[in-house]
Amino acid sequence: MNAGRSARSAFFLLSLSLVLAVSAVSHDPKDWPVPEEARKMTNPVPLTDAALASAKAIFEETCASCHGDTGKGDGPDAAMYSVKPADLTDAHMMSEMTDGEIFYKITEGRKPMPAYKKTLTDEQRWQLVHFVRTFAPKPAPKAAPKSAKPAAKRPKAKIENRK
Ligand code: HEC
Repeated sequence: MNAGRSARSAFFLLSLSLVLAVSAVSHDPKDWPVPEEARKMTNPVPLTDAALASAKAIFEETCASCHGDTGKGDGPDAAMYSVKPADLTDAHMMSEMTDGEIFYKITEGRKPMPAYKKTLTDEQRWQLVHFVRTFAPKPAPKAAPKSAKPAAKRPKAKIENRK
């Protein structure tokens, strides 16, 4: 009889799934903290066809294994990780991130995503910022110029962030 053994392995499986569940929660992309200075950085690399072409080549070689050629997070290696690679075609998520924030995330990485501050130059990482923005459909352009918008309509958090 091996009732004891199967009880033990059931317990093991249970605790394993608990651990996986907890680690998945703690990796919610929404709470990937980015320092305020990094968020405010603007892209020094001009948006040109050449910059996009260079970034596309880097993306396909370096990032697509996880994020997929079309940025959906469905690359061939994606299934290997308990944390799903971010879906870069998610227009809502992408519109909430500043260029500086995307740059910071590519620079620093977060497990299982590697840090690229040593393997890619600043220029290459800023080119990638332009490129990853091409995956998501563009948000509808604002009809009125910025200054015509009443300040009160802006979300409160944004005003506080501005300092
Ligand atoms: C080993 C797999 C892997 C590779 C390679 C990889 N990523 Fe990621 N990436 C991830 C995962 C997983 C996340 C989600 C991390 C999290 O939320 O904790 C992520 C998140 C991101 C985000 C942030 C989106 C968000 O949720 O805030 C960006 C931007 C990004 N990756 C771009 C890139 C770029 C550009 C490259 C190549 C230079 C790259 N990644 C390479 C796995 C990978």
